[in-house]
Amino acid sequence: MNFKKNILCIGAGYVGGPTMAMIASKCPLYKVTVVDINKDKIREWNSDNLPIYEPGLDELVKKIRDKNLFFSTETDKHIREADIIFVSVNTPTKTFGQGAGKAADLQYWEKTARQILANSTGSKIIVEKSTLPVRAAEAMDRILNTKNDNIHLEVVSNPEFLSEGTAIADLENPDRVLIGAKQTPEGISAGKEIVEIYSHWVPRERIVESNVWSSELSKLTANAFLAQRISSINSISALCEKTEADIDEVGHAIGMDSRIGPKFLKASVGFGGSCFKKDILNLVYISQSYGLTEVAEYWESVVNLNEWQERRFIQNMVSNMFNTIAGKKIALFGFAFKSNTGDTRDSPAIYIARGLAEEKAQITISDPEALANAKKDLSDMEENIIYERDPYKAAEGAHAIAVLTEWDLYRNLDYKRIMRSMVQPAFIFDGRNILDHKKLFDLGFNVFAVGKAPMKQF
Ligand code: UDX
Ligand code: ADP
Repeated sequence: MNFKKNILCIGAGYVGGPTMAMIASKCPLYKVTVVDINKDKIREWNSDNLPIYEPGLDELVKKIRDKNLFFSTETDKHIREADIIFVSVNTPTKTFGQGAGKAADLQYWEKTARQILANSTGSKIIVEKSTLPVRAAEAMDRILNTKNDNIHLEVVSNPEFLSEGTAIADLENPDRVLIGAKQTPEGISAGKEIVEIYSHWVPRERIVESNVWSSELSKLTANAFLAQRISSINSISALCEKTEADIDEVGHAIGMDSRIGPKFLKASVGFGGSCFKKDILNLVYISQSYGLTEVAEYWESVVNLNEWQERRFIQNMVSNMFNTIAGKKIALFGFAFKSNTGDTRDSPAIYIARGLAEEKAQITISDPEALANAKKDLSDMEENIIYERDPYKAAEGAHAIAVLTEWDLYRNLDYKRIMRSMVQPAFIFDGRNILDHKKLFDLGFNVFAVGKAPMKQF
């Protein structure tokens, strides 16, 4: 079949895989190829066991794979054939040198840019999908256009706003699609080509065009604002625990103000995920590098409060369990950074498991999707941790349960049965406020929930 256009995506991760599957399914006349340096990952994308868990993804991929959606490791060949190249390689926080701990590590991005340059025999549009610091496109533009010939590689920014667990629904029905292009004739025309792709299914008024820098900064700002809401509500949760106000009631009451809105006001053990911390620290680093100390400090406090919330959760457990958890068995219900995903990147559960292990607790981790990743995250402490998918077994003989991920499955367990199998007095620490606390208390549990007055049996 002759396709209208060849689209390539470099990086078959959480962003690249689902986004390209959606584009391919909505644009049957485009050939969409996704490549990755990781051969195992590509093999999995071509198998019945996709490398990531995302509701609706399996069905979507199976419908179009090998029709107009292809997964491959032959990057050079596909670069040559591509008209439009999306780059969604990872841009983790730098762990070394200048900007360590804050700035984005752009080595994968830059390598990709050079690989595109080396293999391009005609002009192409390069789409920034990975989250990059503001003005990164400019640097990429320089690298990509160093060849002195007639090839032009135009960089367009198209940040991803999908949220894990609802990625397919977000892609299908996005609040907005943002396309940032240089305000030159080539830039504007490249931007229009990307608009055309999304116009296959996204209403035109939800496709927002801007200059490149606004687009890059909007991505960082959106994530910073979302994370800030969580830190704000979590800061109030600490106050609730002291004053017997209830964080869910407070969240509900303030969320009814249409200027505030009801979403993202759930107090928790802390936010996780691959984006929030990374993007805020990126914002902090950029602000610092422009000498905007107050701006940097303001945003950094969002991350600091999150870390404090995680620490506070551990301290709460220790102090309420008679100031020692050494040798006590603790079952962690959930390890993913949120429900409906197997992703554990920056999950508060990592920090909490490590904190509890430092206190010499015996930890059993349960999660319906994230145990494989949990094992990798905690590979250095293999002998101290048991992994058990079945929550009933995980809780057997435990002194305490800590709910760290809001999986629906934990809401409806038979807690009477669980209570009977635990060491008494039994404790539950609900880090997500998903359980029926009154019912648990009536069953005999000592219940500690984020942002709520403790319910103790003694
Ligand atoms: C986020 C952004 O939402 C998305 O637009 C961006 O593209 C990538 O980063 P994601 O990391 O998938 O998406 O998860 P999100 O749903 O935003 O949740 C992030 C963290 O905040 C999770 O740990 C979640 O449990 C926590 N959270 C969320 C709360 O603690 N309370 C809330 O009210 C909402
Ligand atoms: P994200 O959540 O941003 O999608 P992931 O880590 O899930 O991040 O995915 C990024 C993917 O990019 C990984 O699968 C990684 O192997 C891939 N990658 C990194 N560098 C390159 C490269 N030079 N060529 C192809 N793929 C790459």
